[in-house]
Amino acid sequence: MTRRAVVVGTGHYLPQRVVENAEFEATLDTTDEWIRSRSGIERRHFAAEGETTSDMAAKAAERALADAGLTADDVDAIVVATSTPDLTFPSAATMVQSKLGMTKGFAFDVQAVCAGFVYALSNASALIASGQASRVMVIGAETFSRIMDWTDRSTCVLFGDGAGALLLEAQEQPGTNKDRGILATDLNSDGRYKDLLYVDGGVSTHTTGHLRMQGNQVFRHAVEKLASTANTALDRAGLSAADVDWIVPHQANIRIIQGTAKKMGLSMDNVVVTVQDHGNTSAASIPLALSVGKDRGQIKEGDLIVTEAIGGGLAWGAVVLRW
Ligand code: UT7
Repeated sequence: MTRRAVVVGTGHYLPQRVVENAEFEATLDTTDEWIRSRSGIERRHFAAEGETTSDMAAKAAERALADAGLTADDVDAIVVATSTPDLTFPSAATMVQSKLGMTKGFAFDVQAVCAGFVYALSNASALIASGQASRVMVIGAETFSRIMDWTDRSTCVLFGDGAGALLLEAQEQPGTNKDRGILATDLNSDGRYKDLLYVDGGVSTHTTGHLRMQGNQVFRHAVEKLASTANTALDRAGLSAADVDWIVPHQANIRIIQGTAKKMGLSMDNVVVTVQDHGNTSAASIPLALSVGKDRGQIKEGDLIVTEAIGGGLAWGAVVLRW
């Protein structure tokens, strides 16, 4: 038997304020048509004044607990993937721990920008497999609206805020690739590409900074690296793209999502797409898409899922799991 991390609950939270592409036409030299055709984004949510990453993360986590029929006392650990925590420290995860009223266990953040949720899932799976935790709440939550340069049309129209959560539980499975739970992961980074996507500020440089991106350069890396990491993770699980029910990709650009599916030989009928409604929510995009995909009735128990993401670093990776 093999101890696997199985998803037993999902939840997501999107802030109330919805911003349609057309709103940017008033302040920027851009159009709804350009944003839609180049990225697939139609609208995104922005957090309210005073609404923080840990607020959104806690709401998503509460929904995942309710979905699983469990309470915070049943959770051993919280992992939050974010690049936009409320404060420099403590971690957003410890703030979520307190907001959930959880007084035991441990909590920490993972920072791998848009690949953060894949990194967090991989860490949570290892905590469960090693016996250090039996239930782990894995959350992706971001307030990228706080690090936008609102005069830079090439970035500020692309990102949004939100949070998604998965509750993982240790379950003994037969130990084959038909098991439920996380079957394989693949993580990569290459710091030589750090200048393609970064925030030009931080604690040791005395500013908060704004997101800077050479979008077309990131794009060039994306499809190849995403298809490659997804195939590597599938290979590790002893599976292939033909076995996949759903690709649940990082939601940055519909053209990247389509290109990756095509490179993997899969149809868009096998892809959960939320980019039109959420924009790019960085580490929150995959758990948001998983939770929405489940609510839509797309993702069902037993489905084989590949998640894949790439972002600043560059950092990229994939997780193969059976729902
Ligand atoms: O999540 C982390 C990983 N990030 C990504 O995966 C993002 C990857 N990149 C992308 O999604 C795309 O590269 C973008 C959507 C950012 C841009 O699409 P693109 O097809 O690569 O366009 P581009 O950057 O090559 O720009 C084409 C033109 C430029 O004008 P010129 O130089 O050809 O005259 C830009 O100045 O589009 C212009 N442009 C805009 N025009 C209208 C850039 N932003 C805008 C805008 N509205 N908002």
